[in-house]
Amino acid sequence: MTKKKSLSPRSRSIHGPSSTDAWEFSHHLVPPMTASTTFRLKSLKRGAQGFTSFANLKASDKKPIWVYDRLDEPTTLMLEEQIAAMEGGDKAVCFGSGMGAISALLLSLLEKDRKILAHRTLYGCTDSLIANWLPRFGITSKMLDFNSKDLETELKDPAVSVLYFETISNPMLELIDLERVVRLVKKENAKRKNPIRIVVDNTFATPWSLRPLDWGVDFVIQSLTKNISGFGTEMGGAIITRKEFEPILKVARKDFGAVIHPSSAWHILVFGVSTQSLRFEQQQRTSMKVAQYLESHPKVESVIYPGLKSHPQHKLARKLLRSPEGDFCPGTMISFRLKGSAEKCERFVDDLAENSYTVTLAVSLGLVKTLVEVPGFMTHSAVPEERRDASSIDPRLIRLSVGLENTKDLLSDLEQALKKI
Ligand SMILES: Cc1ncc(COP(=O)(O)O)c(C=O)c1O
Repeated sequence: MTKKKSLSPRSRSIHGPSSTDAWEFSHHLVPPMTASTTFRLKSLKRGAQGFTSFANLKASDKKPIWVYDRLDEPTTLMLEEQIAAMEGGDKAVCFGSGMGAISALLLSLLEKDRKILAHRTLYGCTDSLIANWLPRFGITSKMLDFNSKDLETELKDPAVSVLYFETISNPMLELIDLERVVRLVKKENAKRKNPIRIVVDNTFATPWSLRPLDWGVDFVIQSLTKNISGFGTEMGGAIITRKEFEPILKVARKDFGAVIHPSSAWHILVFGVSTQSLRFEQQQRTSMKVAQYLESHPKVESVIYPGLKSHPQHKLARKLLRSPEGDFCPGTMISFRLKGSAEKCERFVDDLAENSYTVTLAVSLGLVKTLVEVPGFMTHSAVPEERRDASSIDPRLIRLSVGLENTKDLLSDLEQALKKI
């Protein structure tokens, strides 16, 4: 048998680990889906052990005692083992959605009078969680450009406990220099008793393109709903981190309750994880062609895609966005603006919605179907206008998530809609 360490994550995503405490591998080719919310306990002693060993670091090497789905359950555990391996972390804890994971993590790390620093451009609901909900618990925030000098100054505030950003920001596709941020935080942490934790949302990049834990961040978030699930049928979220943080995240999941349904965990594990690298690479090949096509089109004002030389951080993209096999991985997301008014942009998007076969007007991303949306009116509408302006999310910005369709068909649909404006 090939030594596990020499295997590409591509192979591991198909076969999984060769052993797990969650399942007996000798008989089935495909892992089982569990459908029991509660578990038979053969004695009171075992029941009591189940509760004391749950989220207990000292007991984490022992075989799990299944008690109740909201604590732990076998299919979710198998998914967690795979997601942790994909991101190169010790542990993953899965949730019912990406937002379930983000809210549980932030409420685990922050408390009254603590502060979160966040990059100025974030997914709309994350922005709303930080700006509208956390202040109710006495948690303050400051949003700024993490690539600016201001970060260094803001880190000096002793109230700061958490740094939060998206490795490729939604929808501006900016990259954050992970090496610089980790260096600055380490310098600050050397002077502190309670270290600042770095949390990144790696959903746009996916672990196939970027593994932030290797760069020294503390927590990685994935919305499994997107490219990892891939087919648009399941919702899920994950936090990937070091072993020492697993207990608090499991307790947060138990008490806040945002568990993933075992059926969703099974579908993501069996269909999503095993095909993610292949789907991502194919979608990315098409994305490059679509981005080049749009960039050369006379009716298009500007295109943002990390794979294009015109991307202001193309050099940084080439450094950060690498598959586990070493290839450049600029991703499957493109943002662009048409020349002319917002009204023209609306006509273009409506035309795609009505007449295109391969491009669907819908939110979400990373799926096998190509999706188009206008963040200023849809995914980022909850962000106040002045902050949308500061992030250049103007009403003409169009976001495209490229799917698995034939490139020619996709370009032809875009061409038809562009012709009409
Ligand atoms: C970057 C990013 N993070 C998190 C989320 C939230 O994920 P979910 O919809 O699974 O809650 C989204 C949703 O679009 C997203 O784009």
